[in-house]
Amino acid sequence: MHQQHRFLTFDRQVEIWVMPESLLSIMKQTLLLNVDSEYPDPAAIQIAADIIRRGGLVAFPTETVYGLGADALNAEAILALFAAKKRPLDNPPIIHVADPKEIGKLVLEVPIKAKVLMEKFWPGPLTLIFNHSNLVPRETVAGLDTVAIRMPKHKVALELIRQSGCPIAAPSANLAGKPSPTTAQHVHEDLNGRIDAILDGGATIIGVESTVVDLSVDPPILLRPGGTPFEALQKVLGDLKLHPFVEAEQELSLHQIRSPGMKHKHYAPKAEVILVEGKVPAVTAKIKALAESYKLEGKKVGILASEETQTCYHAHVVKSLGSRSNLATVAQSLFRLLREIDAENVDVIIAEGFSSEGLGLAVMNRLRKASAYHIIKA
Ligand code: TXA
Ligand code: MG
Repeated sequence: MHQQHRFLTFDRQVEIWVMPESLLSIMKQTLLLNVDSEYPDPAAIQIAADIIRRGGLVAFPTETVYGLGADALNAEAILALFAAKKRPLDNPPIIHVADPKEIGKLVLEVPIKAKVLMEKFWPGPLTLIFNHSNLVPRETVAGLDTVAIRMPKHKVALELIRQSGCPIAAPSANLAGKPSPTTAQHVHEDLNGRIDAILDGGATIIGVESTVVDLSVDPPILLRPGGTPFEALQKVLGDLKLHPFVEAEQELSLHQIRSPGMKHKHYAPKAEVILVEGKVPAVTAKIKALAESYKLEGKKVGILASEETQTCYHAHVVKSLGSRSNLATVAQSLFRLLREIDAENVDVIIAEGFSSEGLGLAVMNRLRKASAYHIIKA
């Protein structure tokens, strides 16, 4: 069907075409470049930009999570990007620009609502879906008619895009199925030897990915909750729908899927994850009882709690995501703690649910996915 299938093999487990590992057989030396997040060293950015221009892969910090960047207009670089991440080829990355004007050549039209959102929320954690122009290679958009674009709010990311002289396609810089990386160390754990360079600009501020809004339909639909709260977007747009996936408490059927990412497994720690939702006293009582019964079965239990509740649990490991009254810190530490608790080799992770307000909507969406919808209502 596609000319690209010359390179691909069919993975029966996930039923998609993938780049065979053999094409990755030459392990790369991954260059580590330290940069100040406020005053990035132009020499380091220049090295990274040269790599992007030559079709290579560079991980870099954004305000949300680390991205793995490649020249968005270079089809070969994009295929290498999918291979390095082991990402299914039907799940397109987000294109990052350094100036709203740059989207002109990438899209067919900029709807008025998009202009309003760009004016208000760019640079920042908001990705918009447009109908794309012919300039964008099919590989970059996984054959879709639409493209996801955002302008990040991070000096390192913006300088890298400017110096590269091209829009940069960048999915989160993790191996497919792992939590998104919020530090260069996380990127190194997943991708060392598979990519050309990592720009280390310290831990990311927001900690969850950008909010994705589809403007190719009217009224617009929020496809993925993230760093820009739904409430803030709704205030500006008036009419904004939440895709049922955003608050889903079980796997969606295929016909309900609007964003390729919705059908792929995500944030799945090695351990079984159970999410307990409800009023705080009932949640803590339920988690205590669950932890006790797993302990009796000889299982090692990890608990993801909050500042207010962490001292009431006894388990192999208890970690606090932060205060229930500050969902921004909960979002900021979520992926780091999912990685840390999984590294303790526990058998079961029991997580407390949080409020779905503001950044809480993104937190709950990620926790529900991490639990593979194993949700208990306390
Ligand atoms: O904050 C972020 O968005 C980070 C940083 C690096 O910018 N990037 C990120 O990229 O999270 P990624 O590739 O991990 O997630 C992109 C999401 C996926 O769920 C994908 O399915 C969706 O955007 N997406 C991409 N193109 C799309 C399209 N044309 N229509 C609908 N969804 C799309
Ligand atoms: Mg991702």
